Amino acid sequence: MTTLLLTGGAGFIGANLVRKVLAERPDWKVVNLDALTYAGDLSWLEDVLGDPRHAFEKVDLADRAAVEAVFARHAIDHVAHLAAESHVDRSILEPAIFVRSNVLGTQNLLDVARQSGVKRFLHVSTDEVYGTLGATGKFTEETPLAPNSPYSASKAGSDLLARAAFHTFGFPVVITRCSNNYGPRQFPEKLIPLMIANALDGKPLPVYGDGQQVRDWIHVDDHCAGLLAALERGRPGEVYNFGGETELPNLTVVRALLAILGRGEELIRYVADRPGHDRRYAIDCGKAKRELGWMPRQPFAAGLRATVDWYRSNAAWVARIRSGAYRDYYDRQYGGRLAPGSAPGH
Ligand code: NAD
Ligand code: TYD
Repeated sequence: MTTLLLTGGAGFIGANLVRKVLAERPDWKVVNLDALTYAGDLSWLEDVLGDPRHAFEKVDLADRAAVEAVFARHAIDHVAHLAAESHVDRSILEPAIFVRSNVLGTQNLLDVARQSGVKRFLHVSTDEVYGTLGATGKFTEETPLAPNSPYSASKAGSDLLARAAFHTFGFPVVITRCSNNYGPRQFPEKLIPLMIANALDGKPLPVYGDGQQVRDWIHVDDHCAGLLAALERGRPGEVYNFGGETELPNLTVVRALLAILGRGEELIRYVADRPGHDRRYAIDCGKAKRELGWMPRQPFAAGLRATVDWYRSNAAWVARIRSGAYRDYYDRQYGGRLAPGSAPGH
C-alpha cells in the first residue's frame, strides 16, 4: 500500500485528483490535508469520505506542529502539494494571506516531508509564475520567472523553495506549471464558473478591460492526468509545463458561454481592468508530452458544454456557495465596478 498525502484535496483540482487516485490506484491510500478555507468544500467528496483508503485531516499548513502531527499519524510515502490561496483578485485585496499559506505553508510541508523521508514530492505550481507574454511566443520550462500579481509572486516563492529543497538537500521534488483549469466544481470566483453562475441568474457578466486578454484553457481532468504522470514518472529536480493548447481571448470564452446558455450579449459589462493584469499566457507542453507520455485530450467546446450542464444541475450548490461570505467578496470586488456610471476599462 502506497500512502499519498494530498494537500488541498477539498479544493477544485485537489478533489478531482483525490477521486482519480482512489479510482485508478486501488493499492494507494490518500491522506487528504486541507484547512477548509472559503475555497474548500467536503461536500464534493461525500461519496468517498467513508472509504478506508481516504483519511481527511483538517490542518492549516502554516501551523507547523499540526503538519508534523499528520506525518506522525500516517506513514506517508509520497506528497502531492496543491493547497494554496489560488485567486488573483483576492491576492490584490489581501496579499499577506497568500504569503502565509503559499510560501510559509509550502516551506513547512517541504521541511516536514523531507525530515519524514518522503520518497517523492510533487509541487503543483502555475504558468502564472512566468509573468505575461506579448502577441507571440509560449512559456517553456526555461522561461525566467517574472510573476506580476501577489498570487503569482507567492506561487513563484513556493516554486523556488521546492527547487531549493532539491538542489540543497537532494529532496526528490518534481514541479509542474499548468495553465488555466476549468470544469465541474470550480469555485465561482474564477472566470468560467462566475460567468456561468451570473448568466444563469440573469446577472451582469463583468469583463475586465477590453476582454482581449488570452488564457490557455485546460480541462481539470487533463491537468489531473498530468499530475499523476508527473508524480509517478517525473524526474526529480525537473519542471513540467501542462497546457490545454486552447488559447482564447476572455471575450470569446464569455460569448461561447452565452451561446451555450441561450443568453444575449446585453449581459456583458466592460468594467475597470484588474490592476497589473497579465495580457497573455501560452504554454509549450512538449516536454510533458515527450517525457511523461501525456497530452491534453478534452476538446474545449465539449468540455465547456459539460461544465455548463454541471452548473445547471447543481444550482443548489452554487446558491449555497454564493451566499454568506461570497456576497461580501463579490460586493468588495465588483460593487464599485458594476455600479451605474463606473468607468469602463477601455
Ligand atoms: P482552490 O482554491 O479551489 O483550492 C485550494 C484548496 O487549498 C482549498 O480546499 C483550501 O481550503 C486549501 N488551502 C488553502 N490554504 C490552505 C492552507 N494554508 N493549509 C491547508 N489547506 C489550504 O484551488 P485550485 O484551483 O484547486 O488550485 C489547486 C492548486 O493548483 C493551487 O496550488 C494552484 O496554485 C494550482 N493551479 C491552479 C490552476 C487553476 O486554474 N485553478 C492552474 C494552475 C495551477
Ligand atoms: P481568472 O479565472 O481569475 O484566472 P487568472 O487570472 O488566474 O488567469 O481569470 C481569467 C481571465 O478572466 C483573466 O484575464 C481575468 C478575466 N476575468 C474577467 O474579465 N472578469 C472576471 O470577473 C474574472 C473573475 C476574470
